[in-house]
Amino acid sequence: MNDGGAAGEGADKLQAGGFDLSRIRTIDGVDVRGKRVLIRVDFNVPIEKGKVADDTRIKRVLPTISKLARAGAVVIVLSHLGRPKGVINPETSLKPIAAKMQELMPGTNVRFIGDCIGEEVKRGLAALNPGDVAVLENLRFYPGEETNHPVFAKQLASHGDIYVNDAFSSAHRANASIDAIAGLLPSYAGLLMMAEIMALGEALEQPEHPVMAIVGGAKVSTKIDVLTNLAARVDRLVVGGGMANTFLKAKGMEIGRSFCESDFTDTAKDIMARAEQAGCEIVLPSDVVVATELKAGADSQICPVEAVPADAMILDVGPETLADLKRRVAEVKTVLWNGPLGAIETPPFGEGTFALGREVGRLTREGKLISVAGGGDTVRALNEAHAAADFTYVSTAGGAFLEWLGGKELPGVVALTRSGAR
Ligand code: 3PG
Repeated sequence: MNDGGAAGEGADKLQAGGFDLSRIRTIDGVDVRGKRVLIRVDFNVPIEKGKVADDTRIKRVLPTISKLARAGAVVIVLSHLGRPKGVINPETSLKPIAAKMQELMPGTNVRFIGDCIGEEVKRGLAALNPGDVAVLENLRFYPGEETNHPVFAKQLASHGDIYVNDAFSSAHRANASIDAIAGLLPSYAGLLMMAEIMALGEALEQPEHPVMAIVGGAKVSTKIDVLTNLAARVDRLVVGGGMANTFLKAKGMEIGRSFCESDFTDTAKDIMARAEQAGCEIVLPSDVVVATELKAGADSQICPVEAVPADAMILDVGPETLADLKRRVAEVKTVLWNGPLGAIETPPFGEGTFALGREVGRLTREGKLISVAGGGDTVRALNEAHAAADFTYVSTAGGAFLEWLGGKELPGVVALTRSGAR
């Protein structure tokens, strides 16, 4: 068997969480013909009325699965779905996902097997031919998955000859199918895993400066590590969404009835102080869109942040802020984006996020910017703004993207650097 490709051009220079990415082997050049390849993917996708409601994550791993199947492997797909907590729950079965895969891969035989370990799986797999794809049942029906149990990992590993991890969005979970299994089989990164690592690595580890990070969303408390890490690394840090309210309050402003985490104003002050020390400019809104209720089509007005009415809530950035952000984004070379600037789910309070998304998209399309975005709400907003396709890279990851931005080591990536049976 070929020993696999190195992680790609530039990977030798890339460091992530303190390790050298060139130690990760890719599937390029690996001879998988006649081999049983276990591939861990993240098919944690929304299911509505027994059907896949958003197939983005499935489509994003198809290139790896198709490549392996075309090369003559029996491809055995492993994933979790939801949080069944070690108990069989038909609502989180992967059966609808196998059906969706069959739809997306009409020329391939896709089989669903109703378990992930044991005799039923062995029998099901024995009936498959090179080029076929098997989707095993939800790994989280067994407690050993989330406890990273070595016996469960061994049972999974016994199905295959090679292990491929293409689940960057689950790489923050030290689960058996992500961590322990990689020590048991020759292990490789799939195409999506590599694309994610390279895109995020380039944007965060070795970006072209100036770098502007846009971090939005409701709560400072959920993004302390992200804000702290970014403040030390980027040139400009735009704080948006509900989080900005906590920062404004920390600066002594009256923010009416706006969402705010009053317990975290000291954290906000600390982040501002660290940013100043590191030479990172923190950018907060100068004007905002306010309303007295959070309701679609609610009457709204624009006011400076110094003049938010006592009965009003801040729900979006104002036009002056938006113009300022557009100007600033045109001055930088790299944009990293996680979290919306306003209440995007309630029209018209998503307009600031959508407009800035379109501007980042436009500058990227014109070759003036490298732009990387991640996180469920962010990606939804960029899709709604028809801007996602213009970004340099849109990550499939939510939690893993945040942990990466927070400077944490991702167990799923680290595990690939100590592949078994090298
Ligand atoms: C995700 O959707 O972020 C991943 O699939 C991880 O899911 P989890 O938070 O349930 O571990």
